[in-house]
Amino acid sequence: MAIRCIALGADHAGAPLKDYLREKLTEAGCEVRDLGADGSQRVDYPVYGTRVASMVSTGEVEQGILVCGTGIGMSIVANKFEGVRAALVHDPFTAQMAREHNNANILVLGGRLMAREYAWECVRLWFEGSFEQRHQSRLDQIAAIEKH
Ligand code: RB5
Repeated sequence: MAIRCIALGADHAGAPLKDYLREKLTEAGCEVRDLGADGSQRVDYPVYGTRVASMVSTGEVEQGILVCGTGIGMSIVANKFEGVRAALVHDPFTAQMAREHNNANILVLGGRLMAREYAWECVRLWFEGSFEQRHQSRLDQIAAIEKH
């Protein structure tokens, strides 16, 4: 896995999976910025979604991973930020497509839905995959929508 900088964020429902993914990504040689939350105390996912999505939006990090209970709240938050393409994925196929077709710069996972090894497989496929340039015009259309 090529060394890249990635930001991680989660609420209480996603923190255990986020911590596991931090270890796996670090082992794989990635530079990881863990922006919380830590522990099981109830917190609000928009706070942590904002931390990661704003860093991706400004280009401070290339990519991010967000985890909440279902992944739904985090994806709603992240997609409010300019330039962010956050994809909520549920399996290896959607993770692979999130890279190849959508060039998602944030991967969103449901911490209450997935075994951690399965989630890691999704992350790995997204992280190691390549965007297929033939889909670029669709991404340009999304960027144009954002400008209005
Ligand atoms: C927290 O209970 C839960 O609502 C949150 O983790 C997430 O699933 C929201 O979409």
